[in-house]
Amino acid sequence: MPRLRQISAPLAKPGCPTSRLFCEKWDRVCRQRCSLVTLLVAISLLSGCRIDMQVQPRENPLSRSDFFADQRSERPPVEGTVARGELREDTYFYTGKVGNNPGDYMPFPVTKEVLERGRERYNIYCAPCHSLLGDGNGFIPSRGFARKPPSYHIPRLQKAPLGYFYDVITNGFGIMSDYASQIPPRDRWNIVAYVRALQLSQNATRADVPTGQAVPSDPPKFRREPGSGATLPIIAPEAQSTTEEPK
Ligand code: HEC
Repeated sequence: MPRLRQISAPLAKPGCPTSRLFCEKWDRVCRQRCSLVTLLVAISLLSGCRIDMQVQPRENPLSRSDFFADQRSERPPVEGTVARGELREDTYFYTGKVGNNPGDYMPFPVTKEVLERGRERYNIYCAPCHSLLGDGNGFIPSRGFARKPPSYHIPRLQKAPLGYFYDVITNGFGIMSDYASQIPPRDRWNIVAYVRALQLSQNATRADVPTGQAVPSDPPKFRREPGSGATLPIIAPEAQSTTEEPK
């Protein structure tokens, strides 16, 4: 404590006995001491005045605020704000519509991966009601869902444009709820591509096979029901179905 030693040094000097309280030198020492004490007290008092993080002037989430006219501390984003990665410039990709009407093209090329992903997502999200084949004989309607879904293979839905299916997934249809929050836009399109593939699969003829290419397989013959989204089809043994069909 070098400072204290400095202050106490004059006390020891001859000519200023400690008994004479008001001698000049003592007075000076006293003033020095007083100012030191005042300084220490001021520092200790002021140190209690700083603003810590735990008492900073901020609002707790969802608390009431007197600062804003509507008393909500939670402020809405400024009008026109676009979150990062949320700029939906390609309206067809996000709505499936050209103007007000559903468009009839895919917003990206259809590859094997697109169809495989579509099949996977379809079997998860749609097959429980629409069945693996898309004929509407899914497991959920069989257990008393208010309405049986229509088959995708009826002429009206066969002719429906691709954007229409996208719109049904995005906004729902009748008593079918929408899947906008469960299925992101790209997966919706993947499903749409797969639904179209299902439609082709159920109505294909030998003429659809490119010339020179062998028909990969004869359609399986079902022993009983073709199966639903929840049950696998029971396929009859191979033997009976190998005879060539007349062209
Ligand atoms: C919980 C059962 C359920 C699920 C899951 C479901 N749907 Fe549906 N869907 C229905 C029902 C029921 C209808 C008929 C609604 C009506 O007519 O009110 C329907 C109708 C439709 C239609 C026909 C619209 C029309 O014009 O008739 C399409 C297309 C369709 N769904 C596609 C899908 C796709 C794609 C999925 C998967 C993403 C899906 N659905 C999932 C029950 C379901």
